[in-house]
Amino acid sequence: MITFGSELYKEEIKLRDDVLRAPLGLEYKKEDLEAEADELRYGLLDSDGVLVACLLIRILDNTSAKIRQMAVKEELRGKGIGRELMNKVESELKKKKFKKIELHARMYAKNFYDKLGYRPVGKEFTEIGIPHIKMVKKIAT
Ligand SMILES: CC(C)(COP(=O)(O)OP(=O)(O)OC[C@H]1O[C@@H](n2cnc3c(N)ncnc32)[C@H](O)[C@@H]1OP(=O)(O)O)[C@@H](O)C(=O)NCCC(=O)NCCS
Repeated sequence: MITFGSELYKEEIKLRDDVLRAPLGLEYKKEDLEAEADELRYGLLDSDGVLVACLLIRILDNTSAKIRQMAVKEELRGKGIGRELMNKVESELKKKKFKKIELHARMYAKNFYDKLGYRPVGKEFTEIGIPHIKMVKKIAT
């Protein structure tokens, strides 16, 4: 788990900026980061303690949560790191008695979430200028 404002948090913002914003010519604004201060943040570290993947969790209500800002370091993709982080976070949410996870998938990453059991809901829409689709997974009944 990553604590808001910690050294690891600074690594998280750098990783997210490199992976999720810079390629779109965007950057995080102070107010964007302040608005997510109460979200849960998880990451995976390599053997040197360097952050290689991260995501945020926004609690929606007592039973549902939203996964956001999933990012894996570019040179380490395709090695199962994204899946490992998602699986660990799903286990944590199950332990906390959550039943449903939702997310807004970038269309090019849809199959990654498909393989993890997320299913599309509704129509494609645009967020930060690129096509997305809402996806949902039941993790408990
Ligand atoms: C999408 C992302 C998180 C996946 O992480 P990863 O560590 O590369 O994924 P994994 O290696 O764990 O892949 C798990 C499975 O999903 C598949 N997969 C991964 N990324 C995929 C993609 N973009 N499109 C289709 N399938 C993908 C893998 O081939 C693998 O399939 P397999 O089980 O048949 O081998 C990562 O590529 C990333 O950070 N991309 C840029 C940022 C991004 O798009 N984030 C998501 C925003 S919604």
